[in-house]
Amino acid sequence: MRTPLIAGNWKMYKTIGEATALVRDLLAGLGPLADREAIVCPPFTALAAVAPLVAGSQLGLGAQNLYPEAQGAFTGEVSPVMLADIGCRYVIVGHSERRQYFGESDAFVNRKLRAALAHGLRPIVCVGESKPQRDAGQAEPIVTAQVRAALVEVTPAQMADVVIAYEPIWAIGTGDTATPADAQAMHAAIRATLADLYGADIAATVRIQYGGSVKPDNIDELMAQPDIDGALVGGASLQAASFLRIINYQ
Ligand code: G3H
Repeated sequence: MRTPLIAGNWKMYKTIGEATALVRDLLAGLGPLADREAIVCPPFTALAAVAPLVAGSQLGLGAQNLYPEAQGAFTGEVSPVMLADIGCRYVIVGHSERRQYFGESDAFVNRKLRAALAHGLRPIVCVGESKPQRDAGQAEPIVTAQVRAALVEVTPAQMADVVIAYEPIWAIGTGDTATPADAQAMHAAIRATLADLYGADIAATVRIQYGGSVKPDNIDELMAQPDIDGALVGGASLQAASFLRIINYQ
C-alpha cells in the first residue's frame, strides 16, 4: 500500500555538466520501476538542465530546499512556485545540515513543509537525533517531537503528499549506518506518532524513508524492514552504478 521512494540528495555536488552526465547514465541503466519510485535532488543550479532529461521518464525530480513564500524580497532564496515551475515534484525540508549550519528551527521547517504542500510539492521532511542524544536515551522522544512540530497545522488530507525521512545525524556521511533493527524501531515509533495525530489508517499510508550511509551493501536489509519505505541517499547517489544498485534493491 506504500510505494517505496528512493531519493538521491546530491547536496552541494555536481556542476551542470556532471549532473546531466549522471542523469543520462541513470536513465540508461534504469529498468522498469513497477513497485517503487526513484527521484534525484540536484542542486538548484542544475535543476533546469536536468528537468527536460527526466521529463516523462521513470526518474522524478526534487529540490533540496525552498523558502516558504511564493515570491518576495528574499535575496538568494528559491520559492515553491519556482520549483514547481521548473518541474520539481518533491522538495527536501529540514535536512539536519540545514538545521545545523543554517539555524533552521522546527517552526521554520513546519512553515517550509506547509508552503511546499500549498504549492503542490511533496515535502520530504527530515528528522533525526544526534549521537549524544542517542547515547542519552533521548533519540525517540526527540525524533517524535520533531515529527509533531513539522506537522503542525497539516491536515489529514495533506498527509498523502508528505514523506518523512528518518536520518540519524551520526549516520550521515560517516559510513556508520543504523542497524536495520534500530532503524525499524524508530520508524515504528514515527508511525505510532502519525497514528496518534491522524489515526492508524492515514499513518499506514505515509512513507517513511531511512537516510544515513545507505549503500549498495546495506539497502536490501534496510528495505526488508516493515516500516522502512525507501531511502534518502547522499554519497552513494553521486555515482550511477551505486545509485542504480540502491534503486534496484531486492
Ligand atoms: O540526505 C541524505 C543524507 O544526509 C544521507 O547522506 O548517504 O551521504 O550518509 P549519506
